Amino acid sequence: MKLVTKLGLGLAVTSFIVFIGCSKAQPTYSEESLGLRKDNLYNEDKVVPEETHYSKVAPSTGGKTFKRAFQDAPPMIPHDVEGMLPITINNNQCVSCHSPEVAPSLGALPYPNSHMINFRPDTSLAKDGKITKNGKEIDNTSSEKLANVSIKHLNKLSSARFNCTQCHAPQSKGELVGNTFQPDFTDKEGNKKSSWSGSKLTEGLNTLME
Ligand code: HEC
Ligand code: HEC
Repeated sequence: MKLVTKLGLGLAVTSFIVFIGCSKAQPTYSEESLGLRKDNLYNEDKVVPEETHYSKVAPSTGGKTFKRAFQDAPPMIPHDVEGMLPITINNNQCVSCHSPEVAPSLGALPYPNSHMINFRPDTSLAKDGKITKNGKEIDNTSSEKLANVSIKHLNKLSSARFNCTQCHAPQSKGELVGNTFQPDFTDKEGNKKSSWSGSKLTEGLNTLME
């Protein structure tokens, strides 16, 4: 009799635990509902990416620009880049239109001051492994000591900026993923102009080398 009661109680407790366990089951998600492909991982048939539309408008004919994504973000390219890419040492058409001497006459913005500064210190590596930066021997290249920073005004495009499309990309229209990012511009005209000019660009950096 005692044994039966214990068994009965045991069963009751077990089913109670199972009941609780079931009612707390985690929701499940199908493969199709996850990600952008909208299909399971074993089927490629329905996986067709959203079409992208790059601008077909030649420079200087549209005059339209895109709002900057955030304060001092590199602006997106609003015009067609057909025939301009890839940029090579012998073919950089971006420079021929966006250099400060030419740009205003074409209605284009010149590349800004920041692109004519060399932020890289003169660096040499001796045979014995010693590293010299801006004439000072340093122990460790990953250090943030001022010897590792340099601001040299060049009055011409810095080679570090030669490959424009490393930072500036053509903008494509398409709604693969909606964008809910709200930029908080610190400058009144921040959505169409860079504020990195004059002294603001080198503010707080005291390694200025003319
Ligand atoms: C034939 C001259 C020309 C060439 C070549 C050219 N651009 Fe432009 N670019 C313009 C003009 C003019 C504008 C102003 C908008 C317009 O009229 O299309 C402009 C606008 C831009 C803008 C937008 C600036 C802003 O305020 O939003 C960027 C970025 C840009 N170009 C980058 C490039 C890059 C990178 C290349 C090379 C792949 C390039 N451009 C080649 C003339 C040119
Ligand atoms: C290493 C990244 C980088 C490269 C390479 C680069 N840019 Fe920029 N560019 C930026 C950023 C960031 C800004 C906005 C902040 C600033 O003014 O420096 C900018 C701004 C600009 C602007 C807008 C200036 C203004 O007054 O608002 C133009 C035009 C431009 N770049 C053209 C070019 C061209 C042409 C090249 C190639 C010769 C180039 N950039 C290469 C990062 C880059």
